[in-house]
Amino acid sequence: MRYDKSLELFDKALQLIPAGSQTSSKRPQAFAYGAYPIYAKRADGCRIEDIDGNVYIDFVNALGPIVLGYNYPAVQEAIAAQLEKGIISGLLWPAEVEAAELLTKMIPCAEMVRYFKGGGEATSAAARLVRAYTGREVILNSGYRGWPDVWAAARNEPGVPSCLSSTLVTFPFGNLEALEQKLEEHKGKVAAVFLDITSGSEATSAYLQAAKELAHKHGALFCMDEIVTGFRLAPGGAQEYFGVTPDLAVFAKGIANGMPVSCVAGRRDVMQKMAGLTISITYGGEALSLAAAVATMREIKEKKVTDYLWQIGRRLMDGLNRAAANSGIPFTCLGLAPMSMMKFSEVSAADNQMVWSYFLQEMAARGVLMRRGGLNFVTYSHTEADIDQVVAAAADVFAGMKEVWNTPLLAQRVKVREVNVGHRSFSS
Ligand SMILES: Cc1ncc(COP(=O)(O)O)c(C=O)c1O
Repeated sequence: MRYDKSLELFDKALQLIPAGSQTSSKRPQAFAYGAYPIYAKRADGCRIEDIDGNVYIDFVNALGPIVLGYNYPAVQEAIAAQLEKGIISGLLWPAEVEAAELLTKMIPCAEMVRYFKGGGEATSAAARLVRAYTGREVILNSGYRGWPDVWAAARNEPGVPSCLSSTLVTFPFGNLEALEQKLEEHKGKVAAVFLDITSGSEATSAYLQAAKELAHKHGALFCMDEIVTGFRLAPGGAQEYFGVTPDLAVFAKGIANGMPVSCVAGRRDVMQKMAGLTISITYGGEALSLAAAVATMREIKEKKVTDYLWQIGRRLMDGLNRAAANSGIPFTCLGLAPMSMMKFSEVSAADNQMVWSYFLQEMAARGVLMRRGGLNFVTYSHTEADIDQVVAAAADVFAGMKEVWNTPLLAQRVKVREVNVGHRSFSS
């Protein structure tokens, strides 16, 4: 594999774009810079072609939004049909109502919805809403909600006013005692508890139900960030899968198979409060994304897409684990099958990045794109044959790894280059 055109273009990008990319988790150094593609030429189904002409089976899938597959006909046709009519106008488009009807039917907590573009925008609107609804200022949060100040408040980041730090309190997922302790510590001040379900977190219905009850006991709302889990674990997201309905939820990736639309969805009395707040964006009713959302949601329901994601995701997990076990490499693929994660054990912290660099570079060389640790975002377009091809590639990589495992030769075979773009890493 050669990546010459990608590397040349990225050199240019570094002169024009701070850090060279728009998304922290998509920066080339997050993968295997120098031994991994950077720029896409075309994406179709579960495959992506880079500008050097190499073709890969992709599990990065834009960090989650692609649920059906790239260039998925029903969605492309819906976008094209709306494009004929218009993109955005001074009048509202019927697609706003059509998508809202589908969302409220599919998502257990959704009695009303409001659209945004990005995930961070929607989570920030949700934060404003819960504070306005309860008249309280503190938010208890577990996990990544996006870059805005409201969520960066607890991260002590340059540029974030320190006066916000008392408004956001973090708690560790899965530990009810810790959550209760924070609620007690900030008694009468907590507007809401926000959390998301990450792969491998061993989230259970019992934990989520208990967290919801604790929030309610303290007069706080219970909010689920379903930006990754929505339209992936079940048509109605993690709340349907785990059978726990939050007061409010946020969706983004997955709604429209890659078109930029996110939403806050929730209880009618809470959502109604938004009508009186200055929460308003020019592009909220952009119709191409909403037409794509309608087509995507219909397809997810009619084709039982999330059942398929579990099945094909399980095949990937089992195959990778079998390949690793056969080669004797201490690698595990685990977590939730539609968004599985991967880990190498028995590797020192110092060597961990090097091992991942080798794995990603060798998988890419065999036509497979993955991220360090996952998540592996399977889609409705990955076939069993695709998964088997990927598992065969992994078996080959593990066999090569085994030959040099625990020897300096493994590090010597890593072709990744260093590039310092002054990037600060903070997200998933
Ligand atoms: C759980 C979760 N919430 C919020 C966000 C922020 O979404 P966006 O990057 O669209 O602002 C992300 C992004 O990865 C996420 O994974």
